[in-house]
Amino acid sequence: MAANRSVLVLPGDGIGPEVMEQVQRVIGWFDKKGSVRFDVKEDLAGGACFDAHGVSIRDQTMEIALSTDAVLFGAVGGPKWDDVPREHRPEAGLLRLRKDLDLFANLRPAIVLDAMIDASTLKPEVVKGLDIMILRELTSGVYFGQPRGEQTLEDGSVRVVDTQAYNEEEVVRVIRVAFELARKRKNLVHCAEKSNVMETGVFWRKISARVAKEEYPDVEFQHILADNCAMQLLRDPHQFDVIVTDNLFGDILSDEAAMMTGSLGMLPSASLGNPDPITGKRHAMYEPVHGSAPDIAGEGKANPLAMLLSFAMMLRYSFDLGDDADRVETVVQNVLNDGYRTGDIMQSGCHLVSTEEMGTKLLSELDRTVD
Ligand code: IPM
Ligand code: MN
Repeated sequence: MAANRSVLVLPGDGIGPEVMEQVQRVIGWFDKKGSVRFDVKEDLAGGACFDAHGVSIRDQTMEIALSTDAVLFGAVGGPKWDDVPREHRPEAGLLRLRKDLDLFANLRPAIVLDAMIDASTLKPEVVKGLDIMILRELTSGVYFGQPRGEQTLEDGSVRVVDTQAYNEEEVVRVIRVAFELARKRKNLVHCAEKSNVMETGVFWRKISARVAKEEYPDVEFQHILADNCAMQLLRDPHQFDVIVTDNLFGDILSDEAAMMTGSLGMLPSASLGNPDPITGKRHAMYEPVHGSAPDIAGEGKANPLAMLLSFAMMLRYSFDLGDDADRVETVVQNVLNDGYRTGDIMQSGCHLVSTEEMGTKLLSELDRTVD
């Protein structure tokens, strides 16, 4: 039997703990089944960590994150921490994990399952069979650029600065990931930027064109302005396969793409670093695209499927357990095909279930995959 896989579980705030609990049940199912075992450590992150320790993530947690095979992350934030200084805000813990683990490649797939087609606000013929991948640069750009902050000018007025900055290697490495992904999909990459307005946009355009031409001549490649990309996603999303873009545009475009599938509650993500040249291992974190949804936290209404599908991505990308990832994705589809829905994706004729009931349905479907 293979060695245990180490996983750090950070449920976070709001609905994070509720959806993570369902993943823990699935981890327990795999443990019992015996073919895959996980060493799970759990810790606080975000507002919950701030309340307990005065910081949004602790150094000792970061040390575990750096030495573990994979991090599973729930969600952080909420109005409770609105007045906390920015360096201690719940989001700061998440940004530190991304930065310190150098998780530069954020894969956000948007897939419309047939069972979910009527949950989308778009017409069924527009979204039927949709399967696109937003690849978001995650460790640079305006999220981290310096200088940033408030300045008081000589006349006493206030000026605020954010900096969008990219160096060449940061762009090259994420563009390469886009092409590698496309080769295993429909062989098409769009690179979204604002080269008509921004210096960094011109740079992204230039670097992506070079990498495309020199390294991936076999993959079809298109430049697209980020605003046009937002529009085209709604008009005809099937024209896309992999969309690679910077940190901020990726944040926005991935929310848009996610919602095309009906609910943010369905969309997983993987954040990957570069493989270590010697061990081949790479840092990785898996989290749903949705946030902490404080308005429904603790009510058993949250949809655990995005978290579950993030766990499936972990099986696939960190542990090379493609069959088990397929298994989890298939049981999610089966449960949806059987008509079970949490409130966010409820449709007439379906059965409304709680977070926990959804988890129970998944477990019994899992049982049916082994005889
Ligand atoms: C996301 C979230 C985060 C981001 C927040 C919580 C900092 O919106 O993962 O998309 O902006 O990156
Ligand atoms: Mn976001």
